[in-house]
Formats: sequence, structure tokens, C-alpha cells
Amino acid sequence: MTEGNHRNCSEKKICANHGIIPKKELILLILLLGLTLFIAGCDTGNNNVNNGNGEVVSEEDEDQNNGEETGENSNDEDTEDEDPDDEGIDQDEADDEEPEAPQTLADELGIQETDQTMYTLVAIPYREDPIHEAEVLGEISAKEPVEVTGTVANGWIQIKRDDSPAYIHQAFLSEEEIETFTWGTGQMEEEMVILSDPEDIEAIVNKQIALTPDFHPEDLVQPEVPWAEVSNFRYMRREAAKALEDLFAEAAEEGYTLLGRTGYRSFEAQENIFINFVNNHGYEEARTFSAKPGQSEHQTGLAMDITADSVEGRLTSDFGSTEEGQWVSENAHLHGYIIRYPRNKEEITGYIYEPWHLRYVGVDLATDLYESGLTMEEYFGQIK
Ligand code: DAL
Ligand code: ZN
Repeated sequence: MTEGNHRNCSEKKICANHGIIPKKELILLILLLGLTLFIAGCDTGNNNVNNGNGEVVSEEDEDQNNGEETGENSNDEDTEDEDPDDEGIDQDEADDEEPEAPQTLADELGIQETDQTMYTLVAIPYREDPIHEAEVLGEISAKEPVEVTGTVANGWIQIKRDDSPAYIHQAFLSEEEIETFTWGTGQMEEEMVILSDPEDIEAIVNKQIALTPDFHPEDLVQPEVPWAEVSNFRYMRREAAKALEDLFAEAAEEGYTLLGRTGYRSFEAQENIFINFVNNHGYEEARTFSAKPGQSEHQTGLAMDITADSVEGRLTSDFGSTEEGQWVSENAHLHGYIIRYPRNKEEITGYIYEPWHLRYVGVDLATDLYESGLTMEEYFGQIK
């Protein structure tokens, strides 16, 4: 110890080196001093601080407060103290919220990149996302080449349009340059775009997209179902025939007897029927309930007109309000069938309400169409 270290002592009372206090008392005094210093040391080690509001809180409490800082007690020193904690919290949050690449619907559904040119069958709107509800960005005219950049898992195709991705459904595209054929004379003459994949059970056949005169399905069979007396054209494609049998069998279990009436019709058969209707009803009216040859789903082998004894085996809109017709409208999708020409969709399908005309599209699509209440044209995005 140097003298200098004693500057703060009360020299007359406590400094042993000055010899003022007797030895015994000095020892006692030293012990007392030691105790005092020990207690003071404990205080110093406590690290308690005044929070500025007259409350004494530990640093641990302060840290917790900093974590929930509202800013009302902040001063410069507080701010500096808070920064490390704040940074720590921000960092944790940043780790939790690791920036993700924006997930588009196409990414979610799964997209297979490709690079090819395809051709539009019809004039078709292209959309922001691969789904019918998506915003329409523009329209591509019929028979136009398009740059395809990907195929989406749900059957939609990604194309490049104005350097950005856009989507149209594959139902309206062909890998080959578009071919056409012309049918009819005079008022009936029409150039038709040929459907690129007529074997596809989801294929759209309508007044814009047609089957060639020589197309006929390879796997036609006769479903084992009850038939209306006047029925003819009793064939369907194998998969559709099996589904029809299941549908009719389930109806029978529920107490409803359905009757088959008209299945597959060739191009020539449709030609005879259509011309017959034109002769009896005139061209304009015939067009509302009978398809031109090439434009009939019956040529795909995936359609069946059905009826019941309650309407004397006729094909009539009354069938829709019979018990059988009601049951069919609520259950056909469970076996892959849809009512292809529903009520109130005449403008879209181009045909009157035909509760008897069932089209096989497979259970998945039939269920989607049933649940959405959409026609194929709407669902695949042909309609804006
Ligand atoms: N009745 C439907 C539209 C057809 O002729 O195919
Ligand atoms: Zn039909």
C-alpha cells in the first residue's frame, strides 16, 4: 500500500499505518471494514439499474423490457442498449421468414418446361394463370402458331405472350399445323377446324372444333343396359360403356330404370340425321338441337342419349323433371358422365337444354364440372 492509497481514509480513526488506534480495536475495525467492503462488493455485483422511472429493475428485466419495447421510456442510452437485442430479434424473424420465391399457380400445380410451337384450333383467350377463373390478358386468333414454354399438370399450357407467361388449355391447341375440311353446300357450307386428339376422353367437340369424316373410334362395344324400344346406334367406347353400365346399375338399385337410346353415330349417320332435321325444321332451328356432321359428340363414341318409360322412351326436355332425370343429374358425375347441354347455358354450348344427352369425360373432370356448374367450354376457358 502506498500513502497515496489512503487519501480517502479518515486518517485519525481508521488508518493503521498512522498508529492512532490500539491493536485489538484495530483488528476489530479491520474485520468490520472487511465485512463492509464485502457487502459493498455484493451490491456492486448485483448490477441492478434504475430504469429512469424510479423503479429498480435487474438487467435481465431490462432485456425483457427491451424485447417488448414500446419506445415510451427510450433515451439515447436505451436506444443503444436496445439495438443488439433488436437486431437479434430481427435476425430471428428474418430466419423464420426466409424470403421465398413467389409461388405461382403453375408452380403449385407443377409445370414441365418445354419449347415448341403449337397452333390454336379456335380463337381463344389467354389467361394470367392456368385456370378458367384467371384474368384474361388477351385473345389469340384461330390457327395461329404459339410459343409453348411449359405444360401444367392440370392440362393447361404455358405460352409466351409479349415476353410474359400466359396460359390456355390444351383442348384448344394442336401440335400440327391446323387442318380444316369443308362440309355442306349453300347455307350449310362451313369450313371446320379438325380436333387434334379425338381419342382423348376430355376432348371438346363443338360448333368450332370438329371430327373428320373418317374418324371412328376403335374400341366400340355395346353396353349391357336396358334399351328404349326405338333405340338404334347402341355402341360406345369400351371405357364409356363400362361406366354407363355402372351408372344404370346404381340407378336400378335406387329404383330407377334408365334406358339407353342412341350412342355412337358415324359422320355419315349424323349427316343423314342433320339433313333430315333441316328438311323438317329449317336450317336455323335444326342447328339448335342437332349437330352438323363432324360436330357431334356421338361420333366420339363417348356420348349416349338416355331416356325412361316415364317419358315413353322419348328424347325430351321433360326427362329432366322426371325422377329418373333428376337422379341422373345428381349422380352421373360419380360415373364420369356430364349433362353436356345444361339449361341456361344454351348461348355457350350452342344447343338447347338436353337432359338426355350424357357425355363421358371421366370421373375427375365430370366431378369438377358438376361441382362448378360449368360447361366444358367455360371450364377449359374458351369463354371469356
Ligand atoms: N343433339 C346433339 C347436339 C347432337 O346432335 O350431337
Ligand atoms: Zn345426344
